[in-house]
Amino acid sequence: MPRNIKIASLLTGKYCDQEVCARGWVRTRRDSKGLSFINLNDGSNQAGIQIVAEAGLENYGEALKLNVGASVEVLGKLVPSPAKGQPYEIQAKAIRIFGNASGEEYPLQKKGHTLEFLREIAHLRPRTNTFGSVFRVRNTLSHAVHTFFQERGFMYVHTPIITASDAEGAGEMFRVTTLDLDRPPRTETGVVDFSHDFFGRDVSLTVSGQLEGEIFATAFSEVYTFGPTFRAENSNTSRHLAEFWMVEPEMAFYDLGDTIDLAEAFLKYLISRCLEDRAEDLAFLQKYYNKELINTLEHIVHSPFQRVSYTDAVEILEKSGQSFELPVSWGTDLHSEHERFLTEQHFKAPVVVVDYPREIKAFYMRQNDDGRTVAAMDVLFPKLGEVIGGSQREERYDRLLARLKELNLNEKNYWWYLDLRRFGTVPHSGFGLGLERFVQFVTGMSNIRDVIPFPRVPKNASF
Ligand code: 4AD
Ligand code: MG
Repeated sequence: MPRNIKIASLLTGKYCDQEVCARGWVRTRRDSKGLSFINLNDGSNQAGIQIVAEAGLENYGEALKLNVGASVEVLGKLVPSPAKGQPYEIQAKAIRIFGNASGEEYPLQKKGHTLEFLREIAHLRPRTNTFGSVFRVRNTLSHAVHTFFQERGFMYVHTPIITASDAEGAGEMFRVTTLDLDRPPRTETGVVDFSHDFFGRDVSLTVSGQLEGEIFATAFSEVYTFGPTFRAENSNTSRHLAEFWMVEPEMAFYDLGDTIDLAEAFLKYLISRCLEDRAEDLAFLQKYYNKELINTLEHIVHSPFQRVSYTDAVEILEKSGQSFELPVSWGTDLHSEHERFLTEQHFKAPVVVVDYPREIKAFYMRQNDDGRTVAAMDVLFPKLGEVIGGSQREERYDRLLARLKELNLNEKNYWWYLDLRRFGTVPHSGFGLGLERFVQFVTGMSNIRDVIPFPRVPKNASF
């Protein structure tokens, strides 16, 4: 008998009336006259499976001592369940106890806990219903990212984590060093001498794999990276993490419009996959966290994304009659309250804002002919605001060099990036999807700290 069939598979019915094995952790135990009912969960679904243990079991006495959280293996027969709400149950023939859980001390008793408290026990919260659902959704989305791109012939490229280039030019990087911080070597002028450091230079954790993605796009045409990125921005909000995962496709021969089409198809595909594959989890999350969740997700799959220029978006906001906390006028960046107004109130659909002022966007974005905007695009979602940021890249050597100089960026650090424009340059574009922002949207969780296993935020990096 195979011992590694997950509970979710056992419940499909394929194994009815067969001897099966289930292994997992006890969620609940209820005893009544010579019977003990155990709900066992192995993480493969929300409901778990009911185990019925009878007094005739060899170690029935021990089974009666099983606490919530205990780990066990059950051998028995899978039979249709007479109880409501569950198709099958296992009539136990043998129960093996790996480790009991020490009763009262186990923090996850039946009563509900606040999400804030659960963040403090991030080593145990994956065993709760909520986090079970959240992390299964996250897994389904991650898998779907690869399926979407692989089916379209995109190459997966592993861009570096440790890097010398600040892709976004925002100076929000975490430095990586092995120098002795108490006594760092210094140059004659007194500044820290990184030539003695591990890499012989000053390096940091990457904020984006884009620039290296561009290298691969100019060899493999369509590529994507999907990895961790790090930002030392002091933002203590429900949408910011210091360590988050980003999906970044980069495509040669695409203009901005092609890129928006891809982004729209991509997001709709990801949501559809969750609606199909994670129905049980979405129903649970809807019940406890967002009564409109499934409707909203279905609405997004069926509504065409609205496209609007930054200039028009600002006009809409100015004429909206809303009193925003932060003022908005041409040239300022849009904040989440503005983004949310556009998508939730004005367009009532996801919105793609294009052609932002060059002054508020990164150096690599392609300059438009009007001399004041760049070919940028942000995808805005209800509740969240920006989920995707992207652009067509400046492929013209002279324009790029001039922009680097204008921004006082050291062109020597970008020598290879400039080379791509000297040797077979092509129009190309790409975008970045913040995975956690998107998981937030799909799960309806209001805080981004509850959709990543171990959140890193200012003043906190436990586990
Ligand atoms: O808009 P951003 O900064 O764009 C880039 O990094 C580009 N290099 C992407 C590209 O064109 N290849 O970030 C992209 C997305 C944002 O839209 C947002 O969803 C997410 O990354 N993001 C964050 N998510 C969580 N915490 C943070 N601190 C985030 N900063 C950005
Ligand atoms: Mg952005």
